[in-house]
Amino acid sequence: MDTTLALKPVPIDELLLDPFSEGAVQARRKCIALTKNIEASLPLVLADKNKICRVVSNLLRNAFNHTAEGGSVRIDAHLMDGFRAPSWPGQVGATHAEGLAAFAESRRDSGNPTFVKIAVKDTGKGIPPEDLSYVFDPYWRSDSKDVGTGLGLAVVKRIVTAHGGIVAVRSREGEGSEFSSTLPAAASNGAETDSTSQPPQALRASTSA
Ligand SMILES: Nc1ncnc2c1ncn2[C@@H]1O[C@H](COP(=O)(O)OP(=O)(O)OP(=O)(O)O)[C@@H](O)[C@H]1O
Ligand SMILES: [Mg+2]
Repeated sequence: MDTTLALKPVPIDELLLDPFSEGAVQARRKCIALTKNIEASLPLVLADKNKICRVVSNLLRNAFNHTAEGGSVRIDAHLMDGFRAPSWPGQVGATHAEGLAAFAESRRDSGNPTFVKIAVKDTGKGIPPEDLSYVFDPYWRSDSKDVGTGLGLAVVKRIVTAHGGIVAVRSREGEGSEFSSTLPAAASNGAETDSTSQPPQALRASTSA
């Protein structure tokens, strides 16, 4: 996998457009409802567009793989402003967000503590609580009969972490899952950022998905 990020302020719609179009094809094929709910007036996200599109595509593909016909998949994007750990109102089921404390700390210390959360929610089979802390590990799959390689979520985590963001999952068996990527907003709308600027953390992935 490419080891550098080309960071630019990008509107959230641009990050979701291609993955949503691909998802719509999968949704039709599997008779699953796909919807998108983007909060109005979101700030630009400081992102490598291609890599974040890959993140969202991976999450959507997983959602479709583990949701039965007649179910639904939804993409939500909303603002996380100020110092507040990622939270889910009306939360049910188990949650996992590795490094949450450090992330919350870095947000408090940063001069621009505004983040945008992109969540992919499905009404699929869900993940047992004891498995949640492994889902982002390379090659981990809950079922050896699963068709994938187990690398998709490891790549998602590497990309999001390299952006200075955090991944999280909450799930309840039999009811569904929510995978989220919370990414730093650009300093201000329209602000230009040097596209050669260094990422918060170099990507060193040797995996691909
Ligand atoms: N939305 C989901 N609902 C239920 N289980 C999931 C979901 N997303 C991921 N999983 C579980 O986590 C495992 C790891 O996911 P990951 O995307 O890393 O690998 P994969 O989908 O098996 O393979 P790849 O993405 O490399 O093709 C999956 O095999 C599945 O068991
Ligand atoms: Mg996958």
